[in-house]
Amino acid sequence: MTMAKPRIMILGFGMVGQGFYELFNQKRHSLGLGNVSISEIVDAKFGHIIEPCENIISEVKGGKTFPKIDPVKAISESDSDIVCEFTWLNLKTGEPAYSHIKTALGHGKHVITTNKGPSALKFRELNELAKKNNIQFKMKGTVMAGTPSFNLLELLPGIEVKSVRGIMNGTTNYILERMVGGKDFNESLREAQSLGYAEADPTNDVDGFDTGAKIVIISNILGWNHDFNKMNIEGIRKVTREQAANGTKLVAYADRNHAFVKPVELPRGDILREVNGVMNAVEFETDTLGKIYSMGPGAGRIETAQSALTDLVSILKNWGN
Ligand code: HSE
Repeated sequence: MTMAKPRIMILGFGMVGQGFYELFNQKRHSLGLGNVSISEIVDAKFGHIIEPCENIISEVKGGKTFPKIDPVKAISESDSDIVCEFTWLNLKTGEPAYSHIKTALGHGKHVITTNKGPSALKFRELNELAKKNNIQFKMKGTVMAGTPSFNLLELLPGIEVKSVRGIMNGTTNYILERMVGGKDFNESLREAQSLGYAEADPTNDVDGFDTGAKIVIISNILGWNHDFNKMNIEGIRKVTREQAANGTKLVAYADRNHAFVKPVELPRGDILREVNGVMNAVEFETDTLGKIYSMGPGAGRIETAQSALTDLVSILKNWGN
């Protein structure tokens, strides 16, 4: 590893990858990261880009491509120190992101991911591998994009979380709000897709699996054992306009013994009832502070890129120590 000048590899140069590239270059000097570089990008469509130039986004948008490479081979041979995994969501096997992350951690590279597949399905194995190799496996962007969620607990030493409740999917929350305004379900979904909120396969949003993955990831971090494949998950397909108008939201809940995702009619006065559109919110019920909340956008290009920047700064804090 090159300790003096950290080098970053980006895997997946779609919406989030490009957003991160842009945000990193915009903020690196004000963050004191002038010595950090994005040295490589690997993307299924654009190929293997070594030492990308500043206007790489317009180049690939204009049709420029680079030599293709197997991403696992690229990771194994790379001299990068940090791998940012931004490929597509697969909640069945976690692939291809699972293999990418496992390879990177196995080669002693820190990993930042926004991919919920490996973080929900393979957390323990990947976390153990990271610990064994004394490196970090960071996944802030998997829950509520750049808005603080589980990471705010790092500010609260010793706190015990008793339960977690939240609205953690921007697409469905956006659709429900549009339905209240009289819009059709499918039209609202198309809008959410064009705004970059929905997953490549929007079934993951609409049927609650994306939210399920997020509550499992928080549970994993808290050391609660909930199995994504066994938990009760119900999406918003059956929610009527009238129910949406009466405060029905797609709610995720977990405590040590239970976890579920389902539409719930929230009473007036419940803070979560006021969370609209792409906004997400999480409530932690704790031993010392009672209920604490975080609310903010849960999806979007730059909003998700912020999470990777947060993870990057956290990894670099102790660089070389
Ligand atoms: N599809 C997700 C959402 C993106 O709508 O919230 C962020 O995980």
